[in-house]
Amino acid sequence: MAVCHFSAPKPITIPPSTHPVSTPKPLFRCNLSLPSKTLLINADPEPICSSVKAFAPATVANLGPGFDFLGCAVDGLGDFVSISVEPGVRPGEVSISDISGDNEKKLSKNPLSNCAGIAAIEVMKMLGVRSVGLSLSLEKGLPLGSGLGSSAASAAAAAVAVNGIFGNKLSVDELVLAGLKSEEKVSGYHADNVAPSIMGGFVLIRNYKPLDLIQLKFPSENNLFFVLVTPDFEAPTKKMRAALPAEIGMPHHVWNCSQAGALVAAVLQGDLVGLGKALSSDKIVEPRRAPLIPGMEAVKRAAIEAGAFGCTISGAGPTAVAVTDSEQRGKEIGKQMVEAFLKEGNLKACANVKQLDRVGARLIKTIQH
Ligand code: HSE
Repeated sequence: MAVCHFSAPKPITIPPSTHPVSTPKPLFRCNLSLPSKTLLINADPEPICSSVKAFAPATVANLGPGFDFLGCAVDGLGDFVSISVEPGVRPGEVSISDISGDNEKKLSKNPLSNCAGIAAIEVMKMLGVRSVGLSLSLEKGLPLGSGLGSSAASAAAAAVAVNGIFGNKLSVDELVLAGLKSEEKVSGYHADNVAPSIMGGFVLIRNYKPLDLIQLKFPSENNLFFVLVTPDFEAPTKKMRAALPAEIGMPHHVWNCSQAGALVAAVLQGDLVGLGKALSSDKIVEPRRAPLIPGMEAVKRAAIEAGAFGCTISGAGPTAVAVTDSEQRGKEIGKQMVEAFLKEGNLKACANVKQLDRVGARLIKTIQH
């Protein structure tokens, strides 16, 4: 079986956060008119250290019937962003000094056109930073256009890093809003990658305006393994969104809502069979996108035949995601899925078996003045 190691410019052992953004609570609500927000805008905070490094995990968006409102984070795959105070950069601005890792040449170093740059600038604006400039370095662990939330992971890591260098003043909700600005520019206004990348675990986006996020706690004692099979094929999110219907009929609405409800119940109950069944059930988005990814329908069949509880497209694709309860079974399922991509789609693919990331984006290094 081909195994992808796209997370790892270096082998990564991700230490727990040294400066958590804030302790995740079961329910997050955001109200931009809060007085604290107004105070922050005028604050022009001082950096509390000279540089920080943040990690943000990959994510699986949609989870089948949860198009644009459900997503979860997966461990061990993701992007890194380092931020330093840089006297050579104009106060209040960000300069991208370096991009390394997967597809580095395809990414712009113009901060206004780069996912990490946009989120970093947004966080600086929210904090009211006017006296210092920042230098940003991005290590891409995730391939672009893969369906693993690559742009969101860059944005999440940048948002958390900038917030960290100024003393973690912003809330989780505000960081998600900063990441959303970036997502809006590069792929579309959806938080089902950036919210779980920042918060970890499973997240339900109940509303966008105002942002209303609900963290869904999967029981810690239950095993859950994601089999992520990524073919050698790019599926840009903008293009995959353009393939979707503008309107749907009532029967599909009722079906997908009931399946999404079942998925939420399965997550909360730690019911893997129910989770897999719901994951496989989307009748609105997957049927439009699967034909655009060579071999996807056969890959889904192969995953189920190999014993997966369920399978669908991860985010906008082309990665296929299946769920199971053991790492060993996950590897066997992954092997069958890789073979199906080759046989039916003529695409080389690689497989990763990963668990849920329950922490979300975090600072992994801080350097004092
Ligand atoms: N919900 C988004 C979509 C996720 O499916 O277009 C993209 O990763």
